[in-house]
Amino acid sequence: MKKIISVGLITLFGMSSYLLADKKLDETELGLRKAPLNDENKVQLQNFIFGTGSAGESQKIERAYENAPPMIPHDIEGMTPITQEDNACLGCHSPKIAESIGATPLPKSHTYDLRNHKEITEGIAEQRYNCTQCHVPQAQTKPLVENNFKPDFRDEDKKHRSNLLDVINQGVQ
Ligand code: HEC
Ligand code: HEC
Repeated sequence: MKKIISVGLITLFGMSSYLLADKKLDETELGLRKAPLNDENKVQLQNFIFGTGSAGESQKIERAYENAPPMIPHDIEGMTPITQEDNACLGCHSPKIAESIGATPLPKSHTYDLRNHKEITEGIAEQRYNCTQCHVPQAQTKPLVENNFKPDFRDEDKKHRSNLLDVINQGVQ
């Protein structure tokens, strides 16, 4: 009886690998945009527009989850590229200036050297200098895959402010 079952299983595996090997996927079936992978000439970008409200006049975007980097709600035309000499973002989001102009100030995590466990009193942690590496504007486009994720916030305040530095070691102590 055992022999019959194993012969049966081997035949089944053999057949399925034969069938799989036979079904070749075309390269246009692999990605979400259904375009050839090696040639972008015929790819048509969706017609999308980033938020156009200028800084101070835009509506903040809901945070994706607690301590997620907030999206940039305002137009950043003319503020990039961020260079060693010029970081326009700091001009408004530095803690000393931000509150007075209605911008969210940098959180404590951005003025802390995590590697050497030291608070930074002048400027910002080097790892946080290139803001658009983590914070990006949002365009209103139709998602290709529906997202059913619903965030849970521990309290109302965390929907609008972050506190990563305070909770970073939570669970490791
Ligand atoms: C002229 C001042 C100004 C400049 C320059 C500026 N911002 Fe802002 N930023 C604001 C204000 C004010 C808000 C609050 C929303 C509003 O009123 O438009 C804001 C909101 C944000 C938010 C959302 C904060 C939240 O609580 O949801 C992020 C993220 C942000 N800005 C990132 C940036 C980045 C990155 C740059 C540089 C590319 C930048 N900002 C440049 C003034 C500025
Ligand atoms: C390496 C990724 C990274 C970089 C670079 C970065 N941020 Fe953030 N930012 C985050 C994350 C993650 C959070 C939310 C968690 C936290 O740190 O408190 C955040 C939060 C913020 C907030 C919300 C603060 C609050 O109290 O809710 C502002 C404003 C902000 N960042 C602005 C900036 C600006 C301006 C720069 C550039 C000078 C910058 N960030 C660079 C990852 C980054």
